Amino acid sequence: MTQTPSSTSTTIAAGAPSTDGPQIPKGTGVLAVAGNILVRDGEPHQIISGAVHYFRIPRPLWRDRLQRLAAMGCSTVETYVAWNFHQPHRDSRPDFSGDRDLGAFLDAAAGLDLDVIVRPGPYICAEWDFGGLPSWLLDDPQASAALRTSDPAYLDHVDAWFDHLVPIIARRQASRGGRVVAVQVENEYGSYGNDRHYLEHLRDGLLERGIDVPLFTSDGPGQLWLQGGTLDDCLATVNFGSRQQEAFAALEAFRPGQPGICMEFWNGWFDHWGAGHTTRDPEDAAAELAGMLADGRSVNFYLAHGGTNFGVWAGANTGEPGPNGPAYLPTVTSYDYDAPIGEDGRLTPKFWAFRDVIAAHTSRRPPEPPADPPRLAAAVITIDRSIPLASVLDHQPVTVSPTPQSFEALGLHHGVVRYRTRVHGPFESAALHLDGLADLASVSVNQTTSARVGRTTVDPAYAEGCTVTLAEDNVLDLTVHSLGRVNFGPRLRDPKGLSAVRLEFQHLFGWEQSALDLTELPHLDWSGPQADQDQQAFHRGAIMIDEPADGYLDLTGWHHGYVFLNGFNLGRYWPAAGPQRTLYAPAPLWRQGRNDLVLLELVAAGTTVALVDRPVLG
Ligand code: GLA
Repeated sequence: MTQTPSSTSTTIAAGAPSTDGPQIPKGTGVLAVAGNILVRDGEPHQIISGAVHYFRIPRPLWRDRLQRLAAMGCSTVETYVAWNFHQPHRDSRPDFSGDRDLGAFLDAAAGLDLDVIVRPGPYICAEWDFGGLPSWLLDDPQASAALRTSDPAYLDHVDAWFDHLVPIIARRQASRGGRVVAVQVENEYGSYGNDRHYLEHLRDGLLERGIDVPLFTSDGPGQLWLQGGTLDDCLATVNFGSRQQEAFAALEAFRPGQPGICMEFWNGWFDHWGAGHTTRDPEDAAAELAGMLADGRSVNFYLAHGGTNFGVWAGANTGEPGPNGPAYLPTVTSYDYDAPIGEDGRLTPKFWAFRDVIAAHTSRRPPEPPADPPRLAAAVITIDRSIPLASVLDHQPVTVSPTPQSFEALGLHHGVVRYRTRVHGPFESAALHLDGLADLASVSVNQTTSARVGRTTVDPAYAEGCTVTLAEDNVLDLTVHSLGRVNFGPRLRDPKGLSAVRLEFQHLFGWEQSALDLTELPHLDWSGPQADQDQQAFHRGAIMIDEPADGYLDLTGWHHGYVFLNGFNLGRYWPAAGPQRTLYAPAPLWRQGRNDLVLLELVAAGTTVALVDRPVLG
């Protein structure tokens, strides 16, 4: 391969359009493996890296977050690539513009003198919807049955995606004068499967598309994980939160004589709706870090900065099976993760503890961090107009089918589908079974809500099953709303909507489906009828702001739904389940002057929304 290094160093700041690179003169930063050590430019090298996901941060804030990472003492940033964020619909070309401009993010890191590790998946886990896989894979029965295997039904889609993605990374490699120093193959594959051909195909796909920096895999520190997830000619790395010496001993036993790299040092953790808020003692995490560095290990903080699961992007996990199948555990909107750099960029005690450990170990004084971001003053936003969700759904196109269709079959990524059918009665009380419900349903008979049914028990407003009382002629509406797709474990296939509906033992056929995608704010006609507070509805309010700054919307008094700020989906709120009570509304989303707020409330609305000056994560 030939390359022409640029002779001048150009810094591309976050916010500028990405170019074709390279941005940094050649001759710096090529990473290699030499026996059991890493070398960079021929010198022994220890990676001190932190994960920062561009897809969880508005682009105007990328540079700020990377500066904070450098100020902690990291010389490398690591990011995943979330396929579904770039290609949410099958027939659209992958989008690499705006907040999705991966090249600009890599260039911003280079501009701050950071090395970059890229983990392009295609599966990334990461508490991200479907682990980064596009939901439309589930609409193809063969691809859906073959996820994360060497079956072409799945792999052909990956290859087409890699044709778009890999060149963006390849042209920014250290070997070509950029700063990408290493690339991961898949993600913790040993936690899922053992299809060696699949991993080999991904490795070869990276090589054939020009990746020539070291390739690695990352897995749990144990025999089954490592034997399933590693490749002989790729570095094996391990992921853990504590007991680092045991973890590296397991790696050494499996793969003797290679450098010890912790690709995910879990110094915090994420939260599920309906559970407590997780934190980790900074001193405990710092002691673990100090041990690793003293032992000569390389480390990547998972995470240095978590950011936010804006919009519909939070994933979910599954728990132990109960009487109704395995528990479903949706992940909250904040991805603060109790990371050293908070969700809003604030520097935490963990940041300063890590900074001290790194500075003592490297004898280098890191750059000073940017000042704390300013915050908006507290205020109250009053709702001035509410329109029923049902009337918005009335204006959507209708898909008619004998059996209820999944969201994916309807071409919907995430949102709400109203499944409508007609049933004859009368019946005093008949059991209604919502098979495959994912995830929350509001049941109404002749326009009157009669029950709420949920796949998860985190909110008492949703029951596990229901009965209905039917008159002679009935219109039965099941308004189903999706939560995140499972992102980890054996039950990765998580289609949304319904697979079947039964009245007692009898299947109900003949459905009219009206869908509303909530990835972005849908078009709304506010001139419709006024909604009641306990109706599923869109609500509107506005606030004047003098100077945009970070804000936090406190949803106390509301039940469950989404908030859109100036058209941008800030994510799901669910104070009825907790632990998170406020949604982060970062400065770049506010405007000087009038700011519009729209909420979709799915159970019972409040009358005002509080803008508060600090986050409440539980
Ligand atoms: C694993 C995955 C990550 C993330 C963490 C938990 O290590 O590789 O993507 O899901 O678990 O936060």
